[in-house]
Amino acid sequence: MKLFIDTADIDEIRTIARWGVLDGVTTNPSLFAKTSGMTYDEVLTEICKITSGPVSAEVVAEDVEGMLREGRHFAKLADNIYVKVPMSETGLEALARFRAEGIKTNCTLIFSANQGLLAAKAGANLLSPFVGRLDDINQDGMIVIRELVSIVEIHELESEVLAASIRHPLHVTQAALAGAHIATVPFKVFQQMVHHPLTEAGIAQFRRDWEKARAALEQAAAERAVAGAAGSRAGS
Ligand code: G3P
Repeated sequence: MKLFIDTADIDEIRTIARWGVLDGVTTNPSLFAKTSGMTYDEVLTEICKITSGPVSAEVVAEDVEGMLREGRHFAKLADNIYVKVPMSETGLEALARFRAEGIKTNCTLIFSANQGLLAAKAGANLLSPFVGRLDDINQDGMIVIRELVSIVEIHELESEVLAASIRHPLHVTQAALAGAHIATVPFKVFQQMVHHPLTEAGIAQFRRDWEKARAALEQAAAERAVAGAAGSRAGS
C-alpha cells in the first residue's frame, strides 16, 4: 500500500520523505490556503523536487474548458503532477479529455461507489473517496473504500483507490485491510501512527537498564582496580 501525505506544507513533506515512507502528495485549495508566502505553482514545483511520486494539484474551475486550462498548466510544472478534478458532470468530461491528452488525474470528492465507477470509466488514474467526511454525517466511509476496491478488482479497472479524508490512525489500518491502493494521510496522523505508549515506555526502560548495567560494570572495574592496587602494595 502506498502512503501519500495530505498537505501543502513543505516542511511536513520533507519530514515524511526523510522517514523513508513517502510515496506521493495530495494538495487541495484548503490545504494550500494554510501555507503562506508562495504561489500554488511555487508550492507544487517545490513539492515535486522532494518526491518523484504522484503530486495532486486541484483545479478550481467548474467548467470543462476552465478545468482543462488549469490542468494543462499544472501538468507542465512537473512530470509527476496529477490533476485533481472534482466529481461532477463537467469533471467527468474533463477527466476523459485529460486521458486523451495523456495527463494523469485524480478524481476527488467521491462519496459513493457509483461515483468512483464513473470516474474510473472516464479515465481517472486515482479515485479519491472521502472517508472522514462520510463518517462526519454518520455514514461509514470505509464501506465506499471496500466497495470501490472490489469493483476495481472484479472488473480489472486500471484506476487505483486512494483513501482520502483520513482523520486518525484507525482509518489507515482499515483502508489497508480494505485493500485501498493508497491512503493520503495528514502529518499529524503519520505522527500518531509512529507513537505507542508501550513503545515509549519500552525505550525508557531499556535506557534505564542500560545505564544501570553500565554503572555496575564501571563499579566492578573500579573495585578491581582498588583491589589490584592494594595487592601490589602488600606484595612489595
Ligand atoms: O485531500 C482531501 C482530503 O483528504 C480532505 O480531508 O479532512 O478535509 O475531509 P478532510
